[in-house]
Amino acid sequence: MANTSALINVMTAAARKAARHLVRDFGEVENLQVSRKGPADFVSTADRKSESILHAELKKARPGYGFLMEEGGVIEGSDSSNTWIIDPLDGTTNFLHGIPFFAISIALERDRDLFAGVVYEPITDQMFWAEKGQGAHLNGRRLRVSARRELADSLFATGIPFKGSFKNEHFVRQLDAVMQEAAGVRRLGSASLDMAYVAAGRFEGYWETGINAWDIAAGVVLVREAGGFVTEIDGGRDFLTNQNVVAANPFMHGPLGDLLRAAPNAAE
Ligand code: IPD
Repeated sequence: MANTSALINVMTAAARKAARHLVRDFGEVENLQVSRKGPADFVSTADRKSESILHAELKKARPGYGFLMEEGGVIEGSDSSNTWIIDPLDGTTNFLHGIPFFAISIALERDRDLFAGVVYEPITDQMFWAEKGQGAHLNGRRLRVSARRELADSLFATGIPFKGSFKNEHFVRQLDAVMQEAAGVRRLGSASLDMAYVAAGRFEGYWETGINAWDIAAGVVLVREAGGFVTEIDGGRDFLTNQNVVAANPFMHGPLGDLLRAAPNAAE
């Protein structure tokens, strides 16, 4: 069992505290499905409550650090080298529909580099964490990306654009290219977990376009520390800003990227 640093202890404790509330609220969501309006307002309150718990816990432990949060946006800290990047409920649509696949995602960016990440899946009590140079871990077990080297054996995860969030035709062409070669493609609905599952060797790779920094920042540390590669689809390193990412084991990162780059954009 790996020893966790004080930093990881702070992050996992905050995630567990917020998760207790999310799990309680998730129990309520099922009851609200039958109401005409559905549980939308209730879920956004749960999302904001999770964020305010994470903010309070992390601020108490590291008072000077800044924040980038899905709901609250940017909060500058007095220590400009350290910023928490937080998604308090990744998989909101699943949560809203009573599907028990969602996570809390917390990353620490230090000196403009992603330094530590925690992704916690409350329903199955899976705590993924990684810290630069310390490896990636799941509930005390060291993680490695998978060793599969063939597209035909590989299972990939992705996100499907919704409400016009990305050019749909381009996505369909990317999907078409990958599904013709791969063993399968999954859309599970939580980007941080998609990446944690790449780190755990469950998926060979993951890609998404139109994705936000808070959805992937912690997953980036997990995949890298588990021995995988993370870039933009064109190979660039600015995935947090440019909102597209491909993360995979070292054998599949190139072939998956090649398929995605070859998929023509609708505008071309
Ligand atoms: C969403 C999930 C989903 C991804 C979307 C994200 P949210 O995050 O991570 O898997 O496909 O792009 O917006 O809204 O549940 O925090």
